[in-house]
Amino acid sequence: MQEKINQYIEEVKAAVAANAAEIEQLRIRFAGRKGILNDLFEDFKQVPNEQKKVLGAELNKLKTAVQARLEELQAAIGGGATSKDESLDLTRPAGTLPAGTRHPLSTVRREILEIFERIGFTVADGPEIEDDWHVFSGLNFPPEHPARDMQDTFFIEKDPDMVLRTHTSSVQVRMMENSKPPLRIVMPGRVFRNEAISSRAHCQFHQIEGLYIDEGVSFADMKQTLLYFAQEFFGKAKIRLRPSYFPFTEPSAEMDVYWGLNSEADYRITKGTGWLEILGCGMVDPNVLKASGIDPEKYSGFAFGMGIERITMLRYQIDDLRMYFENDVRFLKQFNQLV
Ligand code: DAH
Repeated sequence: MQEKINQYIEEVKAAVAANAAEIEQLRIRFAGRKGILNDLFEDFKQVPNEQKKVLGAELNKLKTAVQARLEELQAAIGGGATSKDESLDLTRPAGTLPAGTRHPLSTVRREILEIFERIGFTVADGPEIEDDWHVFSGLNFPPEHPARDMQDTFFIEKDPDMVLRTHTSSVQVRMMENSKPPLRIVMPGRVFRNEAISSRAHCQFHQIEGLYIDEGVSFADMKQTLLYFAQEFFGKAKIRLRPSYFPFTEPSAEMDVYWGLNSEADYRITKGTGWLEILGCGMVDPNVLKASGIDPEKYSGFAFGMGIERITMLRYQIDDLRMYFENDVRFLKQFNQLV
């Protein structure tokens, strides 16, 4: 045993370590719970009493040598900390992990859907790759309508009947085909248009479509529903409906909210008018109802569609559409809402 101890003393004195990990290895080998020192102290119990004095002293020499060498090595790599300083406090509360945040488009989408859910709408969705019928024909688009133009629509090469949907109105058609009125649904989703990407246009964006069909639904019902939405979402009390045109609604309108002219930015975003266009809407065209198997003599309804990017821009004053899709954490970190 004496010999063994001397060997270890020699070994530990000559031990080298290039970094903290190697020092730790050395510490574990000699001073760890199952290390050389503990083994030797275990063997020491079996040593005859008359040898204990000498061997005990030798063992302590080894222990001191280990301690000294570890400290020397620690100092050499510039750590300076002794094993005592490094002790772990396992009762300390853990630091918080960095949590992700919701994308601003998701936050706004959820908020809009939630407002409509409060007044009895349910949420539905449909496919992003659609056939011509659901995107155009079923919505009363004449065959030569410019929206079908190669400039706007992404076609699927292998099947000329299939396109990337250019609006979420396609989901309306699916819902009308597959369920019976009354219908009260909001349909969020991604849409695609063949546009050159700039700060104001993108080839992909998001919309929320709304549809309400029942007996005796009127334009006044639509106006009241959209006013409720504008008040809940923007906190603005005034809306106006301007006549417009969509193939699938008759009459059609665009809704503006009165934003106000309280700051320079208000002048800029409302082009000096105080009004902002928010969505398109109208009474579902009887042709559209008929095409989906709903009797226009019995039922009527309204529909609306809005762009989530645009509404998110207004809410957070984001002036470049491209930022939504770049996944730059410096941008995303600014929206620290988790709901
Ligand atoms: N689909 C239209 C668009 O993409 C938006 C729209 C307008 C949807 C009027 C509707 C509506 O349901 O009634 O620009």
